[in-house]
Amino acid sequence: MTAKKLYIKTYGCQMNVYDSERMAEAMGGEGYEVTQSPDDADMILLNTCHIREKAAEKVYSELGRYKGLKAAKPDLKIGVAGCVAQAEGAEIMRRQPLVDLVVGPQSYHKLPQLTAKATGGAKALDTDFPEEDKFEHLKGRTKAKRGPTAFLTVQEGCDKFCAFCVVPYTRGAEVSRPADRVIQEAQDLVERGVREITLLGQNVNAYHGHDAGLAGLIRELSKINDLKRIRFTTSHPNDMDEALIAAHGDCEKLMPYLHLPVQSGSDKILKRMNRQHTAEQYLKLIERMRAVRPDLHMSGDFIVGFPEETEEDFQATMDLVQAVEYGSAFSFKYSERPGTPAAERPQVPEDEKDDRLQRLQGLLTKQQRALQDAMVGREVQVLFEKPGRQAGQMVGKSEYLHAVHVDTSDGQGGSRIAVGDLAKIRIESSKTNSLEGVLLSS
Ligand code: 5AD
Ligand code: SF4
Repeated sequence: MTAKKLYIKTYGCQMNVYDSERMAEAMGGEGYEVTQSPDDADMILLNTCHIREKAAEKVYSELGRYKGLKAAKPDLKIGVAGCVAQAEGAEIMRRQPLVDLVVGPQSYHKLPQLTAKATGGAKALDTDFPEEDKFEHLKGRTKAKRGPTAFLTVQEGCDKFCAFCVVPYTRGAEVSRPADRVIQEAQDLVERGVREITLLGQNVNAYHGHDAGLAGLIRELSKINDLKRIRFTTSHPNDMDEALIAAHGDCEKLMPYLHLPVQSGSDKILKRMNRQHTAEQYLKLIERMRAVRPDLHMSGDFIVGFPEETEEDFQATMDLVQAVEYGSAFSFKYSERPGTPAAERPQVPEDEKDDRLQRLQGLLTKQQRALQDAMVGREVQVLFEKPGRQAGQMVGKSEYLHAVHVDTSDGQGGSRIAVGDLAKIRIESSKTNSLEGVLLSS
């Protein structure tokens, strides 16, 4: 029997990337193989994001594009997974009747059954929050070789209820996967070639699948010999406990790069956002982290134009950014999300949001560039991921996630470096979005 073809398009965060991988593997057990194009697919699955209005609308315009495909191939099945599926459920099928299947993020283990139902000609829908751990019920990952970096979801859901955010509604309450299962999966990934794992969770530092929290899990994972680097994202400042701060000081495999969103620098806005901390508490926390790890680079998320944000509030955000000096950051215009408390409040005009976003991004880009340029002359460790843009070059990532291009040719048509190798590199120059360096040792 020839394999059926599955096309998955992933939107949104890294957790969706991980979920898509797991769904592809589960569907492999059902005789589907992944294709890179929707044109020859027997099933199309959109793994969607609901965090901002634009992200959700993209899904409907993408679905509209499949009309012709479906007309030409009536057996083609179209599914919507992810947070739009969870938030809108059956409404998706009403708005776009060519959709056969809707599956929420907590029901992915039901995908084979739902697919069978859809293939049989019925509409299939599941947006429950079942008790069981979907990852345990999804078929085991295949033993196929992997690239050197991988995501691994250890925690899902959020109990924080920031006033702008749909995550507590679409992903549900916080749930942590037990440490032994995470460790097993990490070991398997490492056997397949992975050298760096990024632990994922909507609120990952609230992980409680290990007695000693996320720090405990990181220390256990550090014992896996061939696992060389550990990262985690995304965290809430209030869940940054002492043990996790300490781990940044003495756990060598934990990278000195922390994504810690603050959203705003104004205490008034932070309060209205229900963030449960002040700007000063956030700055103090970073100070403490830098005391144990002086070379720590910070990354963050910001929202401009939250309801009732004044120019003065926005200036407080600019001041906070000046004080922290971010290595990288994501910034967004506030987007009204139905059902969240902030959607009910007086909104900031769109042109003001645009103006503030431009100013904030200007500052953040300047900081990002300054920290990148400051790497010139320094030695960094690079984990090599693939061939570079020029012949004889390889490209990898530094501890700080800077892309580093290095000439690794051995002069005889071969390379001194293989994908997955870690090597010491001296940085020689800084380009727009990457660094260039020379190999010191491997
Ligand atoms: N509007 C704009 N940005 C948002 N984020 C979450 N909800 C919204 C919203 N309604 C941003 C936050 C969060 C990141 C993942 O997305 O900055 O940290
Ligand atoms: Fe959303 Fe993050 Fe706030 Fe949770 S902590 S509600 S995921 S922004």
